[in-house]
Amino acid sequence: MQYLVDTANLEAIRHCCKYYPITGVTTNPTIIAKENRDFRELICGIREIIGLKRALHVQTTAETAEDILAEATMLKSLVGGQFFIKIPITAEGLRAAAMCKENDIGVTMTAIFTQQQALIASVAGADYVAPYVNRLDNIVSDGVNVVSEIVDIFNIYKLPTKVLAASFKTVEQVHKCAMVGTHSITINPDLFESLIFHPLTNTAINSFSNDWEKVYGEQNVPELLK
Ligand code: E4P
Repeated sequence: MQYLVDTANLEAIRHCCKYYPITGVTTNPTIIAKENRDFRELICGIREIIGLKRALHVQTTAETAEDILAEATMLKSLVGGQFFIKIPITAEGLRAAAMCKENDIGVTMTAIFTQQQALIASVAGADYVAPYVNRLDNIVSDGVNVVSEIVDIFNIYKLPTKVLAASFKTVEQVHKCAMVGTHSITINPDLFESLIFHPLTNTAINSFSNDWEKVYGEQNVPELLK
């Protein structure tokens, strides 16, 4: 399982890199616009924080295959390292995916809502497909089922494309996607906090600490072993 963080907020990315085993950052135009900063500085700032080994997925704003390839080429040479251009699934997007792969640019096909969109994106050469779980749930569809069937169909055809499940609001959604074998998820920074939270964990930690203090007071292990 790969965990990615779905934000362009530099402070949040720094925090997530420090505390969580994240393998990358995903953005989209909404996420970028929310920061309301110089685009080049923002993208380079993200790369500086995450380093070259973590993946940076940046969404194209172009619509034709030629323009998408041009954007992807510029972005890749700007940020270097593990880079994936996020391309919404359209006919031009599929053509762009194939063109980007020919030019050795990683591709994440995004705005995926159906199993067949994912399948054709994979056949076109996408490295990742990003199905939107919560947005499906919001229209009384079943986001987890779509993720599950995408995982299955990639297995049936032995396709190398990975599922990067996206658009999450709850830990339950994340858990269910993990149980159906998604290869990766991208979540907002707050959801990381929720993923590791349990009140009984806090109770356990407090009780360990109280029991220790009753005998050893403020002294910690290095002090006791000096
Ligand atoms: C990531 O690829 C998507 O852009 C993102 O997860 C969408 O999330 P949202 O539905 O919370 O906007």
